[in-house]
Amino acid sequence: MCGIIGYIGDRPACEVIVKGLKRLEYRGYDSAGIVTEDGGRLYIRKGAGRIDDLTEKLGFLEMPGKRGIGHTRWATHGIPNDINAHPQTDCTGRIALVHNGIIENYRELREELLRRGHHFDSDTDTEVIAHLIEEELKSSGSFEEAMRRALLRLKGSFALGIVYTGEPDRLYFVRNESPLVLGIGDGENFAASDVPAFLEYTNRVVFLDDREYAIITRNSWTVKSLDSGEVVEKTVQEVEWTLEMAEKAGYPHFMLKEIHEQPRAIRDAIHGNAGIIRSVAEEIAKYDRIFIVAMGTSYHAGLVAKYLFQRLAKKVPIVEDASEFRYEFEELVDGNTLVIAITQSGETADTLAAMKLARRKGAKVLAIVNVVGSMATRIADFTLYTHAGPEIGVAATKTYTTQLTVLAMLAIELARVLGTADQEYLDELEAELSAVPELVERALRHEASLRELAEELKDRRDFFYIGRGISVPTALEGALKLKEISYIHAEGLSAGELKHGPLALLEDGVPVVAIAPSGKTFDKIVSNIEESRARGAFIISIGDREELGRISDVFVQMPEMDELLTPIVYIVPLQILAYHLSVLRGNDPDKPRNLAKSVTVE
Ligand code: AGP
Repeated sequence: MCGIIGYIGDRPACEVIVKGLKRLEYRGYDSAGIVTEDGGRLYIRKGAGRIDDLTEKLGFLEMPGKRGIGHTRWATHGIPNDINAHPQTDCTGRIALVHNGIIENYRELREELLRRGHHFDSDTDTEVIAHLIEEELKSSGSFEEAMRRALLRLKGSFALGIVYTGEPDRLYFVRNESPLVLGIGDGENFAASDVPAFLEYTNRVVFLDDREYAIITRNSWTVKSLDSGEVVEKTVQEVEWTLEMAEKAGYPHFMLKEIHEQPRAIRDAIHGNAGIIRSVAEEIAKYDRIFIVAMGTSYHAGLVAKYLFQRLAKKVPIVEDASEFRYEFEELVDGNTLVIAITQSGETADTLAAMKLARRKGAKVLAIVNVVGSMATRIADFTLYTHAGPEIGVAATKTYTTQLTVLAMLAIELARVLGTADQEYLDELEAELSAVPELVERALRHEASLRELAEELKDRRDFFYIGRGISVPTALEGALKLKEISYIHAEGLSAGELKHGPLALLEDGVPVVAIAPSGKTFDKIVSNIEESRARGAFIISIGDREELGRISDVFVQMPEMDELLTPIVYIVPLQILAYHLSVLRGNDPDKPRNLAKSVTVE
């Protein structure tokens, strides 16, 4: 996730762009850059760091010109440094562009362009696009045609802002699976990843759809189809958001926005890893002793991975909370060990310590990380990124479901490499995984009824979350979400454990949330629901079988899917419930008391 802002009009472009970048900083903040055009020449300043610091250090506000584009980066390919910051340019320096998204086939394109004599400065997937347009320009009648031809060759997600010195009156913006919106002014026009970037100047907007591009000049704007090149009729809408609301895309809190971003984030996780998952699976296939280390929500992702690995790849990893691993398992780690560290921030002290210990003892370390260039990526032998984009809310939501997505991809590929599961079944599971974003969208539609449920339950003191098999980690994660933002006591446990103690705590009206997908233990959890009901518990069941409705006070219907993928979808209603309980109890879910986003001390 990155932020883009473009401007063409009569104001100094740099001023509009710097303000816009500040408002988009929540979309990424590891580096930033600006290109402006003046007198047929491009001016580019960019670097690693926060926008305020770069504005001062690089003199963003002294850049000439009345058209330009800015970018704030959240690295996906290439560490955050000055060279990888956007804009990226072609060999001639006449085309500059900024990008939000992931180009899946950039490696092949880069190889092809290198063979044709292009020179690359950065490690980004973005730079490929500039060279590809340059290449197409050699045989196209116009820049627009060259751009379109180049973009038709890209696989993946992209929102782009493009400036070309040969056409001094316009800017190009393109959208495919990454957001982009035009701002329509008087004698000036804007484009950005999100409305707040230009809301100070205009509230008249045109939302681009996927596979559309826009040409904006000072006094005009046109939208065309990327596939046909034909003009698309669009309507101008007026937004009535305040600036603060707009920054959160209209959501009252970042957490809610991040919950709703999950379909997009999961798609990016799939696109971003499709090209490399095979080589990572081949590497980890060599190890029999596998530890998974992580904390909090990331630890719950590790627990889900255990089920995925054992069911598909017939490997049973030992999943340990990193703070325990570092003191308990030292003697078991050696050169034949693989340690998989899961951490969204890449900065959690216990997880980093566990990784360092593993490296010291000669183990191989794979990190699954969201923040590119974070410490975990520097310690690890190899890294898979979750591509969730920055998560501002303290409670992990989209970083969790993207961790699960990457782990599912890894388990499927590992089973393929090892030949431990039926290949046809693995193909089906992979296809079902690519449909998970739509299933999450369906789960999100329960929001209104979950808000009503939260209204009813907001004064309850204790909650129990129960599951079986691969749903046990979902129970743990549902309980963690509730505890950390609503401050209600909650326990997550395997449903089989109920009778061994916790049942004594059940009395009239105590909410029991049962995670009950179809699968080999469905009948068992139905019995656990019955035994809780018999003690007067208030049953909320999450599942795909309608019969759950008859034995529950509230039934949240989930779409049918392979049980192995249910953790990615079933957590969504639990996130939403926790969110609304938090808000109804007067808390700020984005900043829960006593907690920090990353725990950088032991
Ligand atoms: C979850 O909502 C919490 N924010 C917390 O448990 C978090 O998952 C944990 O601190 C681990 O963080 P990491 O993924 O950045 O390592």
